Amino acid sequence: MTDKIQALLQEVREFQAGNPEELEAFRLKMLSKKGLIPALFHEFKNVDPQQRKQVGMELNNLKNEATEKLNSLKEAFENQALQQKDQASRPDLTMPAVRTPLGSRHPLSVTRNRINSIFEKIGFVVSEGPEIEDDWHNFSALNFPEDHPARDMQDTFFIGKSPDLALRTHTSSVQVRVMENQKPPIRTISPGRVFRNEAISARAHCIFHQVEGLYIDEGVSFADMKQTLLYFAREMFGEKTQIRLRPSFFPFTEPSAEMDVSCNICGGPGCNICKYSGWIEVMGCGMVDPNVLENCGIDSKKYSGFAFGMGIERIAMNIFQMKDIRMFFENDLRFLRQFRSAY
Ligand code: DAH
Repeated sequence: MTDKIQALLQEVREFQAGNPEELEAFRLKMLSKKGLIPALFHEFKNVDPQQRKQVGMELNNLKNEATEKLNSLKEAFENQALQQKDQASRPDLTMPAVRTPLGSRHPLSVTRNRINSIFEKIGFVVSEGPEIEDDWHNFSALNFPEDHPARDMQDTFFIGKSPDLALRTHTSSVQVRVMENQKPPIRTISPGRVFRNEAISARAHCIFHQVEGLYIDEGVSFADMKQTLLYFAREMFGEKTQIRLRPSFFPFTEPSAEMDVSCNICGGPGCNICKYSGWIEVMGCGMVDPNVLENCGIDSKKYSGFAFGMGIERIAMNIFQMKDIRMFFENDLRFLRQFRSAY
């Protein structure tokens, strides 16, 4: 019996498992119910009583060593499996990166940002107003007479049946809000979306964008306006740009003017962009009508000011040399991707 025990002990001590299957085979062979060690315990009954104590110790020792060996190898295999799992879930830092396609700003945003920063340099601050406006801010405060055609359903998108609520037809409505809420001196520009009930064509859209400008202080003159707009034109279209002011009419300015810039494509002699006139119409402007100042709670005897308004699409079409306004709203990536280098 002792020999058998010693032989098995030797085998247990020398055993090495290459994989969990071999370890399981070892367990079955040695320790399972029908294994060799339980079989020895079975035989133990027949051992001579004098040797029992010694043999019993040896047998117990064999069982303990075999169990310990089994457990320690089992633990080693479990740790190995955990490590492999951990390794597999770790990112592979040598893999090439996934490419994220780089977007670009919309040409209208590019143009608006340029306009904003030109005016911000001379102390104008950006202010915004709602796209759904009431009659007061869009028309009445701006001195529009009751029977003005812009108040007609044909020109303006009204909201529901109310004659008081409409989508703003111009960003001049923001002027009113600023003047109602701030005290002069006021220097502000208001970029935003405007809506008009117009047929869509290459030159016109029912949704477009404007930037409104407003400057109110004591002693502001038409000459101040002219100089400010000349500065803007040269920053926007190039330092050689000339401007001209033509008399015009707006209910909210008196006197009113239309500003043209010398054609930045041909520089004067005429081309198909400026329709062979050498000039491009850029914005409406004028001295804020005293009625408007009073409507907004500003003392027209103490303060004066100028205002101007321009269409962002028209300016963008000019600087990017585009012929169709609809391109801005189609979200065609082949068009939009051409503005990657614009800021
Ligand atoms: N609101 C005018 C329009 O939509 C543009 C405009 C003209 C704004 C003259 C002004 C201005 O502030 O003084 O056509």
